[in-house]
This record gives sequence, structure tokens and C-alpha cells, in this order.
Amino acid sequence: MRHSRWTFLIAALWSVAAAHAYAGNAGRAIYRAHCSVCHGSNGQGAMPGMPSFTQKGGVLRLPDTVLLHRIENGYRGAGAPMAMPPKGGDPALTQQEITRVLGYIRRKFGHE
Ligand code: HEC
Repeated sequence: MRHSRWTFLIAALWSVAAAHAYAGNAGRAIYRAHCSVCHGSNGQGAMPGMPSFTQKGGVLRLPDTVLLHRIENGYRGAGAPMAMPPKGGDPALTQQEITRVLGYIRRKFGHE
């Protein structure tokens, strides 16, 4: 009994860790495929007009609800030279993928 309980616990921990790693890698893959062309692999913007994700007090200060909405629907702030295209330009991007890529951006470039 004792043995199978440990086996179960280890298997459960492993699957949580694996799911976590998968979500992290998926976020990175989505970022590289869909976002880095404009936002840069360093998150600081590949060209003028892109917000820097690494800047303190920058766009990542905004709550998830706002950023998820802007990623999903696109966004152009007042006076901005360029718009953020809905879903980074890929209509096939799912809500789960958008959540994952935002998680990746926060972990990789954020300050919290
Ligand atoms: C064609 C270029 C382009 C691509 C591709 C792109 N973005 Fe953007 N993104 C922008 C621009 C330009 C802005 C700034 C818009 C503004 O401030 O008006 C922006 C802004 C943002 C913001 C901040 C929103 C805000 O409040 O200013 C986030 C978060 C973001 N993008 C995430 C993403 C994610 C995630 C992807 C990939 C799925 C992506 N972007 C793909 C151009 C792009």
C-alpha cells in the first residue's frame, strides 16, 4: 500500500511539472512564431513604435484582462504609429494559446 501511494504521489507531481513545462514551452513557441517579428526576441520591440515589454512601468503593468483583450482584438493607442493586430495576425490562435503566450511574456520580460 505504502509503496503504491508513493508511486501515485510521484506520478502526480511529475505530471504537474510536465504540464507546467509544456505550457511554458508552448508560450515560447507561440511568441517566436507570432510575436517576436514585431516585439523582438528581447521583448524590446523589433522596430520603432513597438512597446517595450521590459520597461518598468510599461505595458506589462496592465492587468491580464486588459492585455488579453488587446491581444485578442487588436489595439491602437492614441497617437500610436502602428496597431497591434488581432491575435498577432493569426485568426487561428486560440484563447488558451493567447493566455499561454501572455504568461510567457510576463515570465520572460516582466519585473514581478
Ligand atoms: C505586426 C506587428 C505585431 C505583431 C505580429 C504583434 N504585435 Fe503586439 N503590438 C504591436 C504594436 C504596434 C503594439 C502597440 C500598439 C499601441 O500601443 O497602440 C503592440 C502592443 C502589444 C501589447 C501591449 C498592448 C498595449 O496595451 O499597448 C501586447 C501585450 C502585445 N502587443 C502582445 C502581442 C502578442 C502576444 C503577439 C503575438 C501573438 C503580438 N503582440 C504580435 C505590434 C505587433
